[in-house]
Amino acid sequence: MILVTGGAGFIGSNFVLDWLAQSDEPVLNLDKLTYAGNRRNLAALEGDARHVFVQGDIGDSGLVARLLAEHRPRAVLNFAAESHVDRSIHGAEDFVQTNIVGTFRLLEAVRGHWLDLPEAERAAFRFLHVSTDEVYGSLAPDAPAFTEQHAYEPNSPYSASKAASDHLVRAWHHTHGLPVLTTNCSNNYGPFHFPEKLIPLMIVNALAGKPLPVYGDGLQVRDWLYVGDHCSAIRRVLEAGRVGETYNVGGWNEKPNIEIVHTICALLDELRPRADGLSYATQITHVKDRPGHDRRYAIDARKIERELGWRPAETFETGIRKTVQWYLDHADWVAEVQSGAYRAWVDTQYQGAV
Ligand code: NAD
Ligand code: DAU
Repeated sequence: MILVTGGAGFIGSNFVLDWLAQSDEPVLNLDKLTYAGNRRNLAALEGDARHVFVQGDIGDSGLVARLLAEHRPRAVLNFAAESHVDRSIHGAEDFVQTNIVGTFRLLEAVRGHWLDLPEAERAAFRFLHVSTDEVYGSLAPDAPAFTEQHAYEPNSPYSASKAASDHLVRAWHHTHGLPVLTTNCSNNYGPFHFPEKLIPLMIVNALAGKPLPVYGDGLQVRDWLYVGDHCSAIRRVLEAGRVGETYNVGGWNEKPNIEIVHTICALLDELRPRADGLSYATQITHVKDRPGHDRRYAIDARKIERELGWRPAETFETGIRKTVQWYLDHADWVAEVQSGAYRAWVDTQYQGAV
């Protein structure tokens, strides 16, 4: 079996669902169930013996060691993290604890397990660390996209904590020989995306008749990848990636935020027109910018294509249409995640503008 951490979050739950749709290899899913973790994302696996869910912290060394000894996974895939940049600006403690200390403790527990394995199993074992393009910092408008050689220049507390975790993973390979793989991916979107992030926030606010808060001038650029494509990249890296290497994963799909928001509005105008006949675009509001806001990210994904033959299957047009439709079809999921804690976050972040 494989051990997935953070498998109740956005990307982790998509990964677990995709994995079990394509393979019978069981998944042990360790997730702390923070505000971002949701068992409901995994409802389709209810009663499926191939999925074992454990609520717990990657920083709980005793628990992780026990799980590793009991289940003897052939690989550990680390998705668990605090993932929202704006939250890291309001308070970075949880980011340091989970992304840095948690990754350190997980690496140590995994190293202990790996050292005890018989030689053939030790050689086949992998630790795959799921990371982000944000560790590379911000690109000038005409600068080439991030390659794996780009210097680390993290700018937010979130990206600094992810950069630290990447360095720990690298060191555990170079110093201790742990067979690691790291992926640095661009912005994902798709089903089960928590509505604190740009795309799902715009969809749910539009449908609720609320303002669509665009930070600053809205000309910041991100490179969007459909979550299913990120999952297929991770599966491919786990299968055939070279130990100790990092692989950049991206959608070849750079777009300014304001264009993303207009695309969402146009899709909603078509699929769920407003009763008054006006476009959802009339709800767009420019609000104060994010402190330290990175202007542009773009991924050069040629290495993973050249070495492993991976390319995204979705275009942005197909992926965003599916995503908007998913949110229209899952109003119950949206209602459930918009708990009191979610509303408190929106009040803190947007201070009455939304
Ligand atoms: P998410 O916030 O939706 O989910 C994170 C999950 O981790 C949640 O289920 C949460 O309960 C769990 N978790 C948090 N702290 C934990 C801990 N201490 N122990 C165990 N579980 C814990 O995040 P996501 O968007 O799914 O991102 C998953 C990973 O992918 C993260 O490492 C993130 O840095 C990385 N990443 C995300 C994106 C993106 O666009 N969302 C892009 C590139 C990389
Ligand atoms: O690049 C990969 C990263 O993408 C991941 O590592 C992070 O976990 C993930 O959250 C994401 O980070 P971003 O900060 O790019 O994503 P977010 O959805 O928060 O914001 C996308 C862009 O939209 C960014 O330029 C900020 C802007 N934005 C965001 C929100 C929430 C707005 O203009 N208004 C908003 O209300």
